[in-house]
Amino acid sequence: MKRKQGNPVVTKEYDVLGMGAVAVDDFLYVEHYPHPDEKVRVCRRERQCGGQTGTALVTVARLGRLAGYIGMLGNCRAGGDELSRAVADCFEREGVDLTHHIDRPDAGVYHSTIIVDQTTHSRTILTHTESMVGADPLFPAEDVIRSTAVLLVDHHGLDGTLRAARIARNAGIPVVGDIERGNPAPGSQNTLSEVIRHIDHLVVPLEFARDCTGLDEAGDAASRLWEDGIRDGVERSAVVVTCGVEGCWYIDDNGLEHFPAFYVEAVDTTGCGDVFHGAYCVALVEGMGLRERVRFASAAAALKATRRGGQTGIPMRKQLNAFLVERKNR
Ligand SMILES: Nc1ncnc2c1ncn2[C@@H]1O[C@H](COP(=O)(O)OP(=O)(O)OP(=O)(O)O)[C@@H](O)[C@H]1O
Ligand SMILES: [Mg+2]
Repeated sequence: MKRKQGNPVVTKEYDVLGMGAVAVDDFLYVEHYPHPDEKVRVCRRERQCGGQTGTALVTVARLGRLAGYIGMLGNCRAGGDELSRAVADCFEREGVDLTHHIDRPDAGVYHSTIIVDQTTHSRTILTHTESMVGADPLFPAEDVIRSTAVLLVDHHGLDGTLRAARIARNAGIPVVGDIERGNPAPGSQNTLSEVIRHIDHLVVPLEFARDCTGLDEAGDAASRLWEDGIRDGVERSAVVVTCGVEGCWYIDDNGLEHFPAFYVEAVDTTGCGDVFHGAYCVALVEGMGLRERVRFASAAAALKATRRGGQTGIPMRKQLNAFLVERKNR
């Protein structure tokens, strides 16, 4: 597949490769989230693809950069796993390259039911899988990992994620990490800590930052994560803690700053964090500084929130550029 537009700062075969969670999301829109034993009417049902890495890679593609999925799918060719096929179809439609994904009969994707409360706009995610998901422990080949300008990882498939993050960092490739889970499966805590040590752009939601640091305030938690990196000898470029409608805190050698969320009429914030990560990776490929990256990512995430579902609202590049011009004072 050919690169779509522009000249990235680092020229590689791919702009962004990702290997973590991909999902099929079934959205149920309700007037309000049910109490126990209550019956509520579903106003609307909708199926979209999702997952932290899935949605981030679709964002990269819509913003005009070459994205590829290098994690696992179930046997997604004819007659195989229907949900994996749905994800593969979505990637193909969106222009996310699947050349180096790993097809395994024991692998699959997450199947999530997402209940969106149309009054408060909160969303509750119930997620399920009986298969292996995310990064394969041994694949893809090292040269595939070295063929990207930026590697995007999350916490799904920790052994394979650690392997890939090490290969990328040894090759000087920036690793952007979206880690959401504070309590990994028994026995994998050390692997998760190791993965975090190999992430030089740690972009995490507030809940995870709080779990990690024991600090309540987002700015304090971001500072602590940054200082922990220095103490542990991690070569970190930036820490960003995202706080939904409260925006995000970001820190690098230049100190701690807050970036407020862009005001939009939000209807569904599912996937805002994933879109933020995808756009952040694009901004990194294009050589933007930290504040500009955060602004670009916040704008992409805000636009997503104006449409229902995890992926419908992901902006195309032209729409995002126009929004950034319109809100140029921010
Ligand atoms: N209601 C909103 N209006 C505008 N921007 C928003 C809104 N909610 C989220 N965002 C933007 O998206 C970013 C990421 O959101 P958030 O912190 O909720 O991520 P998350 O918890 O990882 O979400 P998810 O995992 O569901 O994608 C925020 O920092 C903000 O810039
Ligand atoms: Mg998230």
